[in-house]
Parts: sequence; structure tokens; C-alpha cells
Amino acid sequence: MKLWEKGINPEPAIIEFTAGKDRETDLALTKWDIIGSMAHVIMLQDVGLISEDEKNGMLKALHSLFVLDEEGRLLIEKDSEDIHSQIEKEISTILGTTGKKIHTGRSRNDQVLVDIRLFTRDEIDKLSVMVRRLFTRLQSLSEQYKEVLLPGYTHMQPAMVSSFGLWFGGYAECLADDVVMLNAARTLNNQNPLGTAAGYGTTLPINRQLTSDLLEFDNLLYNSSYASLSRGKIEMAVAAALASVAQTLSRFSMDICIYMSAEFRFIDFPDEYVTGSSIMPQKRNPDVFELIRARSNVIQTLPIQIANLNSNLMSGYNRDLQLLKQLVFNGFSEVEECIEIMLLMLNNIKVKKNITENPLYNTIFSTEEVNRLVRQGMPFRDAYKAVAAMVKNSSFSRTSLSDYVHEGSIGNLCNKEIAEIFGERMKYFKNTTAAEFADKMMRHVTE
Ligand code: ARG
Repeated sequence: MKLWEKGINPEPAIIEFTAGKDRETDLALTKWDIIGSMAHVIMLQDVGLISEDEKNGMLKALHSLFVLDEEGRLLIEKDSEDIHSQIEKEISTILGTTGKKIHTGRSRNDQVLVDIRLFTRDEIDKLSVMVRRLFTRLQSLSEQYKEVLLPGYTHMQPAMVSSFGLWFGGYAECLADDVVMLNAARTLNNQNPLGTAAGYGTTLPINRQLTSDLLEFDNLLYNSSYASLSRGKIEMAVAAALASVAQTLSRFSMDICIYMSAEFRFIDFPDEYVTGSSIMPQKRNPDVFELIRARSNVIQTLPIQIANLNSNLMSGYNRDLQLLKQLVFNGFSEVEECIEIMLLMLNNIKVKKNITENPLYNTIFSTEEVNRLVRQGMPFRDAYKAVAAMVKNSSFSRTSLSDYVHEGSIGNLCNKEIAEIFGERMKYFKNTTAAEFADKMMRHVTE
């Protein structure tokens, strides 16, 4: 039975094709569909569109479905196109005629929008916790190894003295900026589309502010037409945030792959954490980081995929938008899985000491020799030329390093300052779980 059936049996192949992967994808939305429906029901009673008894019955029925879902027993059956159809069917089975009132004053278009917004907010908040764990780990590695020097590269050529403190800490600060992207995505996402119905509102006297407050949105997405337009637009912002985090993961992974290679050997992992080859007995491969790199690189194509999906769509709902769900939902799980395995690897990373003592890296001290001459009063360009000549005729011998004192240098990493900025940016995420929402909604049962 389709919600839109009107006496003609739809052709099964059409139903299968148009439902697509929704029966699996929508399972991620189940609990949020129920929470959104609970808020809708409370509002319907408040404005007099259903009775108190009907509200109580519907809330209890919805709650029983919430519990069923928590136990993993609520499935989308073959004859339901999506989660919205399944829930309405279940409610009507439990409540009979009353159940048929649940869709009063809404459309599946605003219903799926509100589900996605609630799901996305929860995912962003959960992802922020993972980002915090990674940030904390990177900062503690930075502190732990702040004295261990590392050659810094430009153009992939040895350039200047760096340190593990600077390297780990640099990726931590990268995450602090990724959090700004997550914040922006959360702000755009946290606006209530419920009540905009199919994209053109309703003549029924609904109270949109009430559902907005119940669902803890910052504000309404006011214009009903914009609510439809926001599907895809807000996904773009979310994808950009995911891509930003993914870029951090990818670049860090690339460094690790290179630093682990025989020519570098700056870092290593215990045998249990590297992989081997079926033919070459000596191999110890960084497959984990290659796969994080690959998966993060694919995530970075997400904004482009979404931009293309949104292209040339007339305003108002278009079925094309259905495909956004898979893209974005998958994006969250990809990034989360990559961070989780990266944390495991970072708990076991081994850092090599005395790397820069290798004569191969003598010339990374040449800028320091220039600085020494500058401190003695020589103009910078003359000092540069003098040292360049020494390097050219191989008479350069390394200078001992003076202290780095400025902010953000190897001698003054400012990890504390970075942590403060990070902490400030993290304040915006707050996670009311679906179970807490369900309890909150059930307080509106009046018998
Ligand atoms: N599965 C649909 C989606 O994700 C739900 C909305 C259906 N609306 C419609 N007008 N056919 O977009």
C-alpha cells in the first residue's frame, strides 16, 4: 500500500526503481521520523486539529515504535516505499482511524526534511566528539615529542628544521579550523523546515514555532519554498565540512605513508599494525593510512557530487533529492570510521629520535647560519649569499640551533592557545539524544 495510492495498482517495477535504496537508507532516519512525528502530533492537538485522547494515543503508539526501533525490530517492509510510509502504516494498524490523522497538515517533503535535519544535527554533534578525541591525541603527541627534531620539507626537498611537536600540533590546529566548518554546517542545518508541507504551506492553522521549540531548532526555515530549496543547499554545507575534515585526514595520512618509507623511516608502528605482501617477505606496509587517504579523498568529492545533483533542478521538490541521503549519510560514516582507526594507530605510533643528526640533513641548518650572521650585523641578503656559496662549495658545516621563541615555532608551539580556540569553537555542539527527545515528548501525554 502506497500513501498515494488511489485505486490503481502501481506497476511493481516502477515502485522498486523509485524506492531505490530508501528501504535501507531510511532506517537511519527511523528514530528521527518518530521524534518529528511526536512533535507534530503535540502541535496538532495544541491547535485543535486532533483531540487530547487522539494525541495521547498517537504519542504512545509512536513511543512503542521508538522502542521497537531501538531493539532493531522496526523494518521497512516490501510494500512500504520509505520510512514515512512504514510509520504511518504501523500507526494506523495500532490506532485505526486515529492513525490516519497523523499526516494532517504535513507532506512527506517537509517530513523527510525535518528527519534529515535532526539526523544531521545528531551526526555533526557525534562527529565533533570524535574530532575532539583526535585533536586531543594529536596535541598530546605534540607535547610528548616537542623536543624531537624532524626535517621540514618544501617542494618535497629538505628545507628547515621542524619537530614532531610542530608536525602533530599542526594537524591538531587544522582540526580546530575544520570545527568552524562543522559549526557553520550545524547552524544552517539547525533551522526547522517542518510545517512547510509540500513546499507551499497549508491552510490548516498549524503552529510552526511550537514544533521548532519542541525539536530544539534555533529558528524556523520560514519561507516554504526556501525549505524545499534548502534540501541540497544545506547538504552542500555539510559535505563541505566533511570534506574539510577529510582533507586533514588525507594529508596527515600521506605524511605518514612517506615518513614510514625506507628512505625516511621517521616513524613506525608495531608489526601488528602494519600489513605484508604475499610475495615480498620484507614488506611492512601502511595500508591503514593508504585507505584513510583514499577514503578521505573520495569524501572530498562529495561537495562536487552534491553540486551536480542539485544542478538544473526547478524550485520545489524533485525526486532527484532522494539520492542526497545516501551520499551524506555515507559521508558521515566514512569520516567517523577513518578517525576511529586513525586513533588506534596513533596510540601505537613510534617516533624515531636523532633523525636530523644524519649528515643528509646538514643543509636544513643553513638558514640558521644565515640568521647567525644577521645577528652579527650582516645584511640578510649578503648573509644569504655567503652561506649559499659555502653550501655550493661543500664547506658548509651545520650550526647549532638558536632558540625559536616566536608563537607557533618549534620552541613555542602555543598548544595551549590552540586548545583554547578549539574549546571555544566546540561549545556550540550539544547533543540531545533521540531517547532524551522521546522522553521529553512523552511528558505531553496527559493521562
Ligand atoms: N523518499 C523521498 C525522499 O527522500 C521522500 C519524499 C517523497 N516525496 C514525494 N513527493 N514523492 O525524497
